[in-house]
Order: sequence, then C-alpha cells, then structure tokens
Amino acid sequence: MSKILIVDRDEVNREQLKQVLVSAHPEYQVSFAGGGERALEMLKRDLPDLILLDVAPGGDGFDLCLLLKADERFHNIPILITTELHDPEHKLKGFRMGANDYIVKPFNEIETIARVEAGLRIKRYQDRQRELYNELRRAQSALLESTRMSAAGTLANGVAHEFNNILQIIGTYAELCSKTQNADDLREMLGAIKDCTHRAGLIAKNLINITRDDASQKKESVDLAALLSEDLRLMDRTLRESRIELVQRFSEIPLIQGYPGQLSQAFVNLVRNAVEAMQTCPERRLTVGLRLCDCVAAICSADPLKSQPKRRGCVTLTLSDTGDGIPPEVRDRIFEPFVTTKGILGGGQDRTPGTGLGLSITYGVVKRHGGFISVQSSPGKGTTFTVNLPVEV
Ligand SMILES: Nc1ncnc2c1ncn2[C@@H]1O[C@H](COP(=O)(O)OP(=O)(O)OP(=O)(O)O)[C@@H](O)[C@H]1O
Ligand SMILES: [Mg+2]
Repeated sequence: MSKILIVDRDEVNREQLKQVLVSAHPEYQVSFAGGGERALEMLKRDLPDLILLDVAPGGDGFDLCLLLKADERFHNIPILITTELHDPEHKLKGFRMGANDYIVKPFNEIETIARVEAGLRIKRYQDRQRELYNELRRAQSALLESTRMSAAGTLANGVAHEFNNILQIIGTYAELCSKTQNADDLREMLGAIKDCTHRAGLIAKNLINITRDDASQKKESVDLAALLSEDLRLMDRTLRESRIELVQRFSEIPLIQGYPGQLSQAFVNLVRNAVEAMQTCPERRLTVGLRLCDCVAAICSADPLKSQPKRRGCVTLTLSDTGDGIPPEVRDRIFEPFVTTKGILGGGQDRTPGTGLGLSITYGVVKRHGGFISVQSSPGKGTTFTVNLPVEV
C-alpha cells in the first residue's frame, strides 16, 4: 500500500487529482495538505512514499521542494511537481530544487498515473537498496567484530596460563608472609606480590585493548618492543603447540605514537597467518625483527612508492616465516577484505576457517599510523611481511 501526499491550496484540484489516482489504484492512501506549513506538520507525523506538490505562479511551492530535499528526514521521498507553469525555465527551476518529476496541468490522466507509478517504483527500489546496504554494514561489522575476537582468542590462552602462574606466585608469597616474623623478608615478599599484581594488570590491559572499540582507543606513546614481546609471550603456547621456533631480533628503537590495542591486533593477525602457513611444513621458524628504519634520504627508502616524506624517522617490523608461501591466486589481493584461501570461504576443507579480514585490518591499522606494509613470498620457502611505522604520526 503506497501513501501519497497531495500539497495544493485548491480543494477542487486536490479532490480531482485524488480521483484520478484512486480510480486506477484504489489501494493508494491519499492525504492532503493545503500549504507548506501543514505539509511539514503532516510529514513530521507520518512519511508518505511520494509527494505531489502544486507550484502556483508566485507561490512558495519551489521553496518547499528545496526545503524538503535539503532535510535528511524527507529527502528520499520523491516529489512530483504539478503546475500550470509549463515554460522550460520553470521546469528547470523545479528540477534544480530537487523535484523528481514535473507534470504540467491540465493533467493527462494516463500520463499522471504512469508518472506516479514510476516515482513509487523508484522509491521502493531505493528503500530496498538502503535496506541491503544496512544489512551489509551490519554483516561487515559483525565480521570485523569476529576477527577482533579471534585475535583476542589467540591471546586468551596465554592470558589464562599467565594469570594462573601469577596467582600461584601470589598464593605462595601470601602463605610465606603469614609465617614470617622478619620485617625485611615481609617487605620483600609484599613487594613481589605488588609486582605480580602490576604484571597481571598489564596483561589484562593488553587483552582489553584488543577487544575495545576503536572509537574509545586513544593515541599514546607506545614502546613497540615491549608491546610485541608481551603479545609474543602470550602466544608462546600457540607457537609451542605448533612446534614453531621463535627468533626475536629486537634492536633499540624510540617510542612511537599510536594505538596500542590496534597495533597488537595487527601484529597478532600477522603472527596467526604465519602459524597457519607453517602447519604442514617440516621447518617451522618465525623470525620477528624490530629496528630503526635505515632511511637516510628525505623520503623513506623502504617506501615502495617513495611517497612518504620522512618525518622523525620510522621503525621497521619484519615477520618472516618458513611456511608454504602465499598462494599465487591471491598474491595480488591479500590486503583486500574477504580474500582468503582458508576454510569454506577460501575453498579449503580441513584448515582453520578464515574470514579474509585479518590482513585488511592490519593494512588499515598500519595506514592509520601513517605507515606502510609490504610482503615478499616464495612458494614453499616462506613469507616476510615488512611494516614501517613513523615514530610520530
Ligand atoms: N604468512 C602467510 N603465508 C602464506 N599465506 C599467507 C600468509 N599471510 C596471509 N596469507 C594468505 O593471504 C590470505 C589472506 O589473509 P588474511 O589474514 O587477510 O585472511 P585469512 O587468514 O584467510 O582469514 P582471517 O580473517 O581469519 O585472518 C590468506 O588466506 C592466505 O592465503
Ligand atoms: Mg589471517
């Protein structure tokens, strides 16, 4: 059932137009407004699917049309101008004010009905497009959420293990504290308990950072070496379970400005990919390197496009695995969303299911930090991801 609003000062005209419409479409629900003000009042209460707006010489019809099209509550409603003003200049003005169609009086009944039907068809089509777009947005954010959660899940195993260790240490010290009489020993043991709680707090913060909404994250000074070491420690079990040797080559680097939670998520995504790529390889080694970028010129030498002006230097993170290498069919598209060779989406069967969002999230995080990411891969030999991040964003 379509709702149509006729805006016309002349009662006879309104009735006449209604008769034309309902004689062809008795299901149309037609309402009237005698002028712009009344039309606005009615629109605030109920939105029609189409407006037939009369523009009289010297009247304010064009203004109302412009007003409605500029208001995001109403701009999707098709407006068909009905008028005696038949010269091209007025027609042009009507379209410029945002009208979707222009019907000159006296009405040709068949043509009027056809134009109203066409307006309603477009409206239905646009509504459906909007619904699909919203559904897509919802599905996309659910998928993004699920990759954030799986990055967190990768760390969760390590977190549980760490907390367990920490609680055991606290328990042991607490027990000893209750037995000792020596004030120095007591102070030392309480200090150790305090260190443990501090450590537990840091671990929890790391996990919370990853699961937190982007919007609530704040840019801060990040000790990248400490952040990545912590992530790697929390993934230690995952690496050991997959019998992967970890080689860490961190040289001294300055603090960088960034979002620690996002950086962790990007890094965990890269490590997870490396782990997944080495599942069936005889040699399994992950080498993580962190160093100051050796750029000397005004443009960073590591920038493949030579587009990034050098600021106060940048740091280079490298992740090399001895895995299968990137399959040739996706090599040029790995940073695009939904590109995966894993699980059902990727045509695989027995490997870990993938959403194909891991690298596109990582890419987005690196870009948000003003950096760039590149990859080199040899089939059967392994893959190296290189991430360059400016010290100051
Ligand atoms: N280190 C790697 N070695 C080999 N192939 C890789 C590596 N990293 C990524 N790829 C390839 O790039 C594709 C896209 O990676 P991406 O992380 O975006 O998605 P995914 O791992 O398939 O799924 P998920 O969303 O769970 O991360 C992978 O499916 C894989 O084919
Ligand atoms: Mg991945």
